[in-house]
Amino acid sequence: MDLSALGALDPRLMGLMAQLSTINAAPEGEARDAAWECISSQLEVLKTELAPPPPPPPCPRPVIIGLEPLSGNHVKSLAESANDPALEAQLRPSFPSPYQPADAEWFVKYSSEAAPSVFRAIVLDSCCVGVVSLELRVPAESNTFTLGYWVTPKHHGKGIGGQAVTKFMKEVLASPPPGLSRIEATAVEGNVASQRILARAGFVMDGLMKDFLLRRDGEVRDCLLFSYPLVGGGEVAGGGSVWLRANFVHAADHAGDELEFLMDHVMEVEEETGKILRVEAADSEWGRGGGGGKRSWLVGSGDRKPSSLQFVTPGFVDTHIHAPQYSYTGSATDKPLMGPDGWLESYTFPAESKLTGDRERALDVYGKVVGRTLKNGTTSALYFGTIDVAATKILADVCVAKGQRGFVGKVCMDRNSPQNYSETCEEGLAGTVELIEYVRGLDAFRKGLLHPVVTPRFIPTCSPELMRGLGDIAEKYDCLVQSHLSESVDEVAFVQQIHEGEGSDADIFEKHGLLRRGVAAHSVFCSDADLKKMGSANMAVAHCPLSNFYFAGGSLDVEKCESCGVDVGLGTDVAGGYSYSMLNSMRMGVVNARNKLNWKAAFRLATQGGANALGMGETLGSFAVGKELDAVLWNAEGAACLDVWEGEGAEDVFQKIMTLGDDRAIGRVFVRGRRVL
Ligand code: GUN
Ligand code: FE
Repeated sequence: MDLSALGALDPRLMGLMAQLSTINAAPEGEARDAAWECISSQLEVLKTELAPPPPPPPCPRPVIIGLEPLSGNHVKSLAESANDPALEAQLRPSFPSPYQPADAEWFVKYSSEAAPSVFRAIVLDSCCVGVVSLELRVPAESNTFTLGYWVTPKHHGKGIGGQAVTKFMKEVLASPPPGLSRIEATAVEGNVASQRILARAGFVMDGLMKDFLLRRDGEVRDCLLFSYPLVGGGEVAGGGSVWLRANFVHAADHAGDELEFLMDHVMEVEEETGKILRVEAADSEWGRGGGGGKRSWLVGSGDRKPSSLQFVTPGFVDTHIHAPQYSYTGSATDKPLMGPDGWLESYTFPAESKLTGDRERALDVYGKVVGRTLKNGTTSALYFGTIDVAATKILADVCVAKGQRGFVGKVCMDRNSPQNYSETCEEGLAGTVELIEYVRGLDAFRKGLLHPVVTPRFIPTCSPELMRGLGDIAEKYDCLVQSHLSESVDEVAFVQQIHEGEGSDADIFEKHGLLRRGVAAHSVFCSDADLKKMGSANMAVAHCPLSNFYFAGGSLDVEKCESCGVDVGLGTDVAGGYSYSMLNSMRMGVVNARNKLNWKAAFRLATQGGANALGMGETLGSFAVGKELDAVLWNAEGAACLDVWEGEGAEDVFQKIMTLGDDRAIGRVFVRGRRVL
């Protein structure tokens, strides 16, 4: 008899074994045989009892609907879709339905939209009744595997939601069913933990779904919609490397004033870190697959030469943009910066103050500006928020959720500001520290995807105490500083009035410990001495040619900045500059400089120059091995914004994209080796 199958430690088995040894020791004869018989039959019974359960039927192809909280209507829909009335009967009594009819409607709407090309995971706030977790499996033909989780108040906050999402992602990503384009998930607006879980799993935020969830207490809540693209099966393979086959264009260090075109090259990227491991021609031995192993491609299947109308460039780095001003960008172009009826007083301060205490508006405006800039190829942005810490944290969250590299600052201003949009020096300092601590607590900070920035608005609105305090904070936390320096004729005149005899803007910053690693927007009226000081302090300049046109009364000499040792990046300065597109900053930079800056130099400023300005020049800005892959895939093929003709060379087609293109010529956007658009 094979006893090993019985499970050696079961106490009943141990008892029978003990009896067996007694019987073995007894003299042979009928009594001993009878005892043997008896023990054998008991062992047979035990064997059946202890046998491992039969393996579950093979898991059908997965599709997902995860939901929480669970209501009676959900149970009904799930049980119906599983075609299992017994399940409904079993579950229904424990779930009275407080959610009618709205949740039934959305469930039906979204679940019917789901199959077969969209996975949908709904991860909602946990406030609920009943079962802790439940899995339903429905027949393979329906192509639906439902993973749901429900959290009792007792289990609330125990990370069950996170476990469910993690499990769900693992299962789906292990073998993504063909034909599926994306997975979607929602998290209740305000549920930072859920948002973080999704962001960690690689989801990016798509927007706000208004009135999406009707809670048990009757409250209607909005949800953030996240999605996870499943592209070509490649990027979800997990572990190791991902590959990209493309025509790469970048401002390589060794290429001088030219751009380097790496036509039909293969790039290997470390999946975990987004680091570029290797770049070689596709027809080299390694490019052709030498080294073995199946390659997971970020785009397409890697077996075809890329179209000569497609290019991959480093993502743009916008070194100066005001996120809250996105709401009025494209308007207010006819006012001077300063003065009682100026642009700041009549448009900027009212628009920024509207975000204080209004999460919904902050989410809306910040969701749109981050989404819009990403869509236009900006993979890193140095943002001014508002004076409100809560809203600025939302800006940070939105950057993380959407996958843009965010450099985010809470604006500080304690004088010469409107009464309803001002703060005390103490509030400015405490708020800055609060934001820094918040950002430093996020995983995205550790990964270099999110950075806190000390942000005195500009000298006119900051008291000397505030400037000094902010300088100390920047020193203590080793943070970037951003501000506006020597921006316009009226600003310079105002500073001279309130800081008589204290020198230039750069001198005043230096005096207060603010001339340090960071980015000064504009700096149009900085003297050579100012620029040299800034260069030695690692304070770069954000060149914003479009807003200079409206406000400055002068223009920046990029060459002079660089010859004084100052790094220069380009900025959109939304909404002082009306365009959110870095392509327009490049074009305006060329126009502004007349013949001193060509399109290639402008491209360098928009990529490597911006990375240098943010102190990230070793990590971003080009496709050098060891840098992280932040990139844009441009596609002139059929793009509605430009025409190309047979026989045009790669450089001409690429220049057309840079000169005439817009977001319609952008196919994909990647940050840290992951697709975000
Ligand atoms: N100077 C002070 N605040 C601002 C602002 O919001 N935008 C611009 N362009 N200049 C400023
Ligand atoms: Fe600005």
